[in-house]
Amino acid sequence: MSGEDSNRSDDERRVALVTGATRGIGAAIARRLASDGHRVIGTATSTQGAAQISAALAGMGEGMVMRVEDEASVADAYREIEDRYEMPLVIVNNAGVTRDNLLLRMKAEDWQTVVQTNLSSLYLVIKPALRHMMKARWGRIINLSSVVARMGNPGQSNYVASKAGIEGFTRSLAQEIASRGITVNAVAPGFIETDMTAQLEESQVQQMRERIPVGRLGSVEDIAHAVSFLASDGAGYVTGETLQINGGLYMG
Ligand SMILES: NC(=O)c1ccc[n+]([C@@H]2O[C@H](COP(=O)([O-])OP(=O)(O)OC[C@H]3O[C@@H](n4cnc5c(N)ncnc54)[C@H](OP(=O)(O)O)[C@@H]3O)[C@@H](O)[C@H]2O)c1
Repeated sequence: MSGEDSNRSDDERRVALVTGATRGIGAAIARRLASDGHRVIGTATSTQGAAQISAALAGMGEGMVMRVEDEASVADAYREIEDRYEMPLVIVNNAGVTRDNLLLRMKAEDWQTVVQTNLSSLYLVIKPALRHMMKARWGRIINLSSVVARMGNPGQSNYVASKAGIEGFTRSLAQEIASRGITVNAVAPGFIETDMTAQLEESQVQQMRERIPVGRLGSVEDIAHAVSFLASDGAGYVTGETLQINGGLYMG
């Protein structure tokens, strides 16, 4: 365990909600926040995925079903969280999808799915928990963006629009609630080794590696470490920021 949170008693441990915690970056963030001493609720789109999260967290939290683009599903999960724990003081909006194509060939459905899952979900997931954070005069909201939000990426206009939207949303909400002790930040990973990047050809991965000054792809722990910092008491003076974690791939 690390940090001030690990010294808290069971009742004092903060509830941290991590969306999309079945695998990849979200699973690493859930593990990390649990080892920091949070009671972690990790979400999945299926009951099987939720059970997998509970097993992985081994008593340090549990998995629940929440489809982040679906208002009723978000409300159901929050009802369960409030009944059994309390509303979260830490929210990590990590769930995300891609449906890549050139705009000329992109189906309207692929645009909608990406924007609703990655961006509109922030409205649905954050809003119900805000009052609780305001009452506690403490909160941490961390949104997963991507390096492509600033770089752009052909074939990903839907995804890039959603991630650039997340960064603007982050700056605006941060200004609305900073005086209540609630910080809102984004984390923008570069090229991280996960299922999402495993879909790429080896030659594409090699090309990417050559463009990264640090000389390697990022690990999920690189991202979890940054989220752990932003969720801590010590990060109370950091808000509205987007932290780039990309091995130097983009420094703008
Ligand atoms: N990997 C990278 O290199 C990279 C780079 C930049 C940014 N990011 C961002 O980092 C975040 C995590 O990426 P990742 O690579 O770890 O993704 P991943 O391995 O594809 O996992 C995606 C997660 O999101 C969940 N999810 C998908 N659709 C959902 C929905 N409609 N409602 C709720 N949850 C849903 C999935 O749950 P199920 O398993 O139940 O489907 C899964 O837990 C994303 O926001 C991504 O855009 C990743």
